[in-house]
Amino acid sequence: MISPIVSVSREGRAPGVASLVEALEGGAVLMFPGLDFPFSPFEERFVERPFADGKAKNVNIRGGAAELRGASGSAEEQEALRQLLIRYRRFAEGLIDRYLPAYTGKVALAGTSYRPFDVDRRKLSWRRDDTRLHVDAFPSNPIGEKRILRVFRNINPKGEPRRWRVGEDFGSMAEKFLPRLPGYSPLSARLLAALRVTKARRSEYDHLMLHLHDALKRDMEYQAKAPQADVHFAPGQTWVTFSDLVMHGAMGGQYMLEQTAYLPVAAQVHPEKSPQRILAAKLGRPLQ
Ligand SMILES: [Fe+2]
Repeated sequence: MISPIVSVSREGRAPGVASLVEALEGGAVLMFPGLDFPFSPFEERFVERPFADGKAKNVNIRGGAAELRGASGSAEEQEALRQLLIRYRRFAEGLIDRYLPAYTGKVALAGTSYRPFDVDRRKLSWRRDDTRLHVDAFPSNPIGEKRILRVFRNINPKGEPRRWRVGEDFGSMAEKFLPRLPGYSPLSARLLAALRVTKARRSEYDHLMLHLHDALKRDMEYQAKAPQADVHFAPGQTWVTFSDLVMHGAMGGQYMLEQTAYLPVAAQVHPEKSPQRILAAKLGRPLQ
């Protein structure tokens, strides 16, 4: 089954969907066509040219202090961009509170990013090529028993859509790839943490997700032939998905805002629909 895109009205209704949170946990992308997030006249400059130092892909704020990283522009412009990201973080939090109230008080908001560049189509390396279908996994930042929930918004000023591909459901993908993945070594996980290659011990789940990410991106036949669909997100649209569960590739588009949030598996309405539990079920044992 290909991940469905579920269009949600301002009132929180979606045709044929009884519960937004259940659709989301089941692997849907929730798309909100008409939520307001207006820019002030001063802020319009942020979608006229990239205010980025060009060293990193994105500009972001992190942590309680919301320190801005990777930006360019005058001090006044950088402060305005920081305030815009703080406002977007509140917008994403408000969206979760209103449309996914089961997660209120349970999600932890992480980084907020401004993505002013076109999707990177230079073929730097297959591993960093996000046009290839993949699920998100972070090499240096073990996720363990957390889920990656992301809130995206297209802020392109010229009508240009954000173009994605979405792929088949996680379970079907995992069945094809799990037999090819190398086994987990608790010893090397402890070593990576001791050497500070990872910020915490890499769990078996993290190990599997990193190898899935790489195996998927390396397999050009799978990339071309696997079940998939093109999706266009128009400017002004906001979409929400578990990016560790939903197979996706970013094909094009410029100017986007993104909020990452972490949710403990145990805080899900249906923990058994998490990639953690799906992988354990496919292996027939709990993960280490
Ligand atoms: Fe991704």
